[in-house]
Amino acid sequence: MPADPSALAAAAAALRARQLVAFPTETVYGLGARASEPLAVRQIFAAKGRPVDHPLIVHLAEASEVEAWVDRGRLPDGGATLDALAAHFWPGPLTLVVPRASGVPDEVTGGMDTVGLRVPAHPLARALIAAAGGGLAAPSANRFGRVSPTTAAHVRAELGPDLLIVDGGPCEVGVESTILDLCDPAGPALLRPGGLSAEALVEALAARGRPPTPLPTGARRAPGALAAHYAPRTALRLAADPDAEAAPLRAAGQRVATLRSGGDLAGYAQRLYAELRALDLAGVDLLIAELAPELGLGAAINDRLRRAAFGSSGSSGSSGS
Ligand code: TXA
Ligand code: MG
Repeated sequence: MPADPSALAAAAAALRARQLVAFPTETVYGLGARASEPLAVRQIFAAKGRPVDHPLIVHLAEASEVEAWVDRGRLPDGGATLDALAAHFWPGPLTLVVPRASGVPDEVTGGMDTVGLRVPAHPLARALIAAAGGGLAAPSANRFGRVSPTTAAHVRAELGPDLLIVDGGPCEVGVESTILDLCDPAGPALLRPGGLSAEALVEALAARGRPPTPLPTGARRAPGALAAHYAPRTALRLAADPDAEAAPLRAAGQRVATLRSGGDLAGYAQRLYAELRALDLAGVDLLIAELAPELGLGAAINDRLRRAAFGSSGSSGSSGS
């Protein structure tokens, strides 16, 4: 792993001086600022070109650090589900949306009364969070509406040469965290499919007495989770069998690139954004990507592919974080 202790110390010092630092997580690279510093957090929105009402996830080094960020009294069960899911799935690709504690800056939550919390599984991320003194607010380290970065080189390409980046190599999961809202008295709601499968969440919740039925997607959408998202510039089409779709188009003289799962969903998720980026630069007329089975990581892969296809189709929908 490339980042050495002195690089981490320099990055932590920059964060303490209210500068932005990009860092690896197991899902994608994040663009971090200390979540307790509103002026630092504001710079994130400027750097990304992101609307200020899109809330940020607060990344913690340890589950015990949630106490500074959550108002347990306003959770339907006083935080029992929060504690159980945190013990089961953190560190890992799960973000839990909870009522925010009174001190959480509006800049972090986009003015909302809730805050998204997660303990990432990447050792460099956790070491950096601890060295910076806790709580890093971080969206994915891409320009607004673009594909999330899964390498330090992607971050550099998105946000320029001056940004301090902790290089942890390629991200292991490759798609963003699963977001679960715990605020609704009716029960947990899935706001974004992601690196942790919804089936694993249903199973863990069933062990606590919830019926083992699919999670509702929630009336309260995650702001920024708009139809168009993660958009490549090249037209993108989705298909069960990309090569079969590509054959007649190629025969007609079109330059068509295909993106295929190879039957390995974890591998497909891990290389999805890197391949979208590379193919987008390849100068083809059309990308055709394989839709995954709608199960486990496949749900997150398909969600990202659909948003990317929507964004690339020339339709006028707005794009997201
Ligand atoms: O894997 C990830 O989640 C990555 C890494 C860096 O941790 N982060 C990430 O952040 O994907 P971002 O900002 O690109 O996407 C976070 C999503 C946004 O759609 C945002 O609206 C939603 O999480 N979100 C954050 N806080 C929320 C809240 N309090 N309520 C509802 N949605 C929230
Ligand atoms: Mg993002």
